[in-house]
Amino acid sequence: MTKIVAKPFLKWAGGKTQMIEQIENLLPENIFEKNFTYIEPFVGSGAVLFWMLEKFPNLQSAIINDINQDLTNCYISIKEDVDGLITILSDWQNEYYLASENEVEKKEYYYAKRTQYNLRNSNQTTQSALFIFLNRTCFNGLYRVNRKNEFNVPIGSYKKPLICNKENLIAVSEVLQRVEILNGDYSDTLNFASDNTFFYFDPPYKPLSETSSFNSYAKDEFNDLEQIRLKEFCVKLDNLNHQWILSNSDVKGKNPNDNFFDDLYADFNIHRVNARRSINANPNKRGKLTELLITNNK
Ligand SMILES: C[S@@+](CC[C@H](N)C(=O)[O-])C[C@H]1O[C@@H](n2cnc3c(N)ncnc32)[C@H](O)[C@@H]1O
Repeated sequence: MTKIVAKPFLKWAGGKTQMIEQIENLLPENIFEKNFTYIEPFVGSGAVLFWMLEKFPNLQSAIINDINQDLTNCYISIKEDVDGLITILSDWQNEYYLASENEVEKKEYYYAKRTQYNLRNSNQTTQSALFIFLNRTCFNGLYRVNRKNEFNVPIGSYKKPLICNKENLIAVSEVLQRVEILNGDYSDTLNFASDNTFFYFDPPYKPLSETSSFNSYAKDEFNDLEQIRLKEFCVKLDNLNHQWILSNSDVKGKNPNDNFFDDLYADFNIHRVNARRSINANPNKRGKLTELLITNNK
């Protein structure tokens, strides 16, 4: 039997699957010779996490974090109750496919699940199943909430979306046994660093224009002051001799006079790499863009 390699179980804005090769090229060389700790403070759908777990079986410990508690609870459910989760999701998948034979019923089914999700009174496994169901069936796999933390993305137009990918969920559950899952601000992850630690930061990107605000994952906005606070955290890690890579948008690629990141990270190594954004409501904007990968490699 071929082994299933765990991969992201969600669609997530800024998913990094397409940038793994470029990230791999910039990994610090020495760190992987001995046991090391991997910390991903903005985990999202975890594309880099799953790749790291596969690539480095000797990874001593991995710590992931995200400020979105509904998301981190989902990781916890997969780690601790994958069978329960699969039972619920496969039932819902069957029901959704049946309902999909009639457009009105399909819509009713989706919006009933969205209402149930927003009540937030289900047990943790059911709440996580709702999160995955909505992610697979909503418009473009977006996660957007209003000020009251209510998920408000409309139904997507997928015919038969794969809601329950049983094999992958089992593979994810298996690798998550080696992972500690935290929920909070990225800065709290420093408490988990050991002598030989590598951080990968994938914060909400600085928007390239006022309208491309795909940084509204959580209730609180990640504005320029937040970008500056993050840079200060990176300086702190550098002073403590921890190694890191950070990705962000290349605002200078869009506007040559915009030196925001070039100035902010002037003391570090800034690499411009080609990347393709997969989540964009406008297909014309899914073209090539450069993005930044910043490292503190000595
Ligand atoms: C660009 S996404 C990460 C994408 C991820 N690398 C992937 O492959 O899917 C940014 C993540 O940062 C989280 N976030 C926003 N503010 C945060 C904060 N202050 N601390 C920790 N996580 C935060 C968001 O909830 C979101 O999941």
